[in-house]
Amino acid sequence: MNSARIWNAMREERPYGFPIYGLVGADGDPEPEGYRNADRIQSLTEIADDARILDIGCGCGRVAVPFAERLGPKASYLGIDIVPVLVGFCARHITPVRPTFQFRLRAQPNPHYAQFMQDDPDARLLEHMPQEHYDLALGISLFTHLDAPDAVAVLREVAAATRPDGKFYATFFVLDEVAREHIQPTSRFQFKHASPSYRAFVERPEDTSFAVAYTAEQLDAILRETGWAVETHLPGAWSGRQGCRTYQDTLLLKKANPA
Ligand SMILES: C[S@@+](CC[C@H](N)C(=O)[O-])C[C@H]1O[C@@H](n2cnc3c(N)ncnc32)[C@H](O)[C@@H]1O
Repeated sequence: MNSARIWNAMREERPYGFPIYGLVGADGDPEPEGYRNADRIQSLTEIADDARILDIGCGCGRVAVPFAERLGPKASYLGIDIVPVLVGFCARHITPVRPTFQFRLRAQPNPHYAQFMQDDPDARLLEHMPQEHYDLALGISLFTHLDAPDAVAVLREVAAATRPDGKFYATFFVLDEVAREHIQPTSRFQFKHASPSYRAFVERPEDTSFAVAYTAEQLDAILRETGWAVETHLPGAWSGRQGCRTYQDTLLLKKANPA
């Protein structure tokens, strides 16, 4: 598979005047970041050569491309996003070289992405979500933009779509005691404001999906409500916490009995 062409397209296509990977909030080169993510996922959970992967908030496919290279011909991947041009980009560049890697659009308004909602002819709508089908789901830098009602909807959807032994690799801003101790008045993220649902904290009250954090208790509540339990938690460096392998908190979730 010639992924160099896809990485170059991510750098060169500028649908809204800047490289497409900028739409997902990334400021670094997508290629090393994509491989770093894939390596980290594979260090936390085994992925079979014929794995079925569901990626909610797939963006421009930064993580899909490494798995398209690494997994066998029977592997499949469904990437879902709410921004048409991102789904269209993946459909134009990844699916033609890896037909079992499919991408679909979820029609859902989000004020933070409202400026990027122009239609894309290759962004096909998600019509059907298979049930108990996927071995692994991904939610990378997704819950860091979702208030509790939307987060709960995704966690429930993924619980239904994954197999009983399925795992969910997801990143969050977890506002636990250590994070709070490290946050300084000059820190990039302070999370001082309650979210509209009062079940999370947001950075900007005027743009509530810009960045969302959950206290440990709030996170525990949404996970229990949706039938997930934490298997592994790698704390993130976002608060200034030292010795972290990742910027956001990285969680590997497994199924639990719903509360
Ligand atoms: C910060 S970006 C991360 C993209 C990708 N996971 C990556 O790491 O490159 C978050 C993505 O989630 C998408 N998104 C936000 N809410 C969503 C939802 N409810 N369902 C699916 N995608 C969503 C956004 O359009 C955006 O592409």
